[in-house]
Amino acid sequence: MKRKKERFKIIEERINVIEPTKPNYHQIKGKWSDEHFKNQNPITVELACGRGEYSVGLGRAFPGRNFIGVDIKGERIWKGSTLALEENLSNVAFLRTQILLIENFFSEAEIDEMWITFPDPRPRKRDIKRRLTGERFLDMYKKIVRPGGYIRLKTDNTKLFEFTLEEIQSRSDIHDLKFTSDLYQSDLRAECYDIKTRYEEEFTAKGETIKYLRFHF
Ligand SMILES: C[S@@+](CC[C@H](N)C(=O)[O-])C[C@H]1O[C@@H](n2cnc3c(N)ncnc32)[C@H](O)[C@@H]1O
Repeated sequence: MKRKKERFKIIEERINVIEPTKPNYHQIKGKWSDEHFKNQNPITVELACGRGEYSVGLGRAFPGRNFIGVDIKGERIWKGSTLALEENLSNVAFLRTQILLIENFFSEAEIDEMWITFPDPRPRKRDIKRRLTGERFLDMYKKIVRPGGYIRLKTDNTKLFEFTLEEIQSRSDIHDLKFTSDLYQSDLRAECYDIKTRYEEEFTAKGETIKYLRFHF
């Protein structure tokens, strides 16, 4: 508990974390390029980023792009933001918010590409609305990700993966859908750069295959 509080305090002072105590928290929408990154490089967002393995890993590999990890848990964001600072990755930032409120932080088409990495599967029926790949979330992503910008999901969870495929396939506005239920045996593997998140490591150790899909609006 003490450590959690300390980490919250630390991220409040970090330049690479936008969180509720920051003066620009409610003004950053539409201004990530001009006011945060201070360049016009394309922005990739990682939702449910946890410790931000994709944001940091891709940030290292692609200095000409910007990356923003989004999660509600400050203690997890602390980890990714620490790594980004230690490695001088000025192209990596973190945003602490509920993803349900994501439209308050990004304007129309502000995002070039989106990753959703191992989101909570929310298996209970009453939690269907909270699944990050359900209809209302997809509708939001459609507004803030530019048309043609890929949305990519990685998960270990078969039920969430099937649910997501059903949601996507029931829509008429989805293009270029590709998917695999065994990423490391698939041609799609190269699209994921072999970056492994904390949850991915855990589930792989338990013998789960990694499921992956991507599409754009
Ligand atoms: C299973 S963890 C995956 C973390 C990381 N992507 C990984 O693969 O190791 C899911 C993450 O999503 C975050 N999360 C779940 N629902 C969220 C929501 N509605 N808004 C913001 N963050 C959320 C949790 O705090 C947690 O860090």
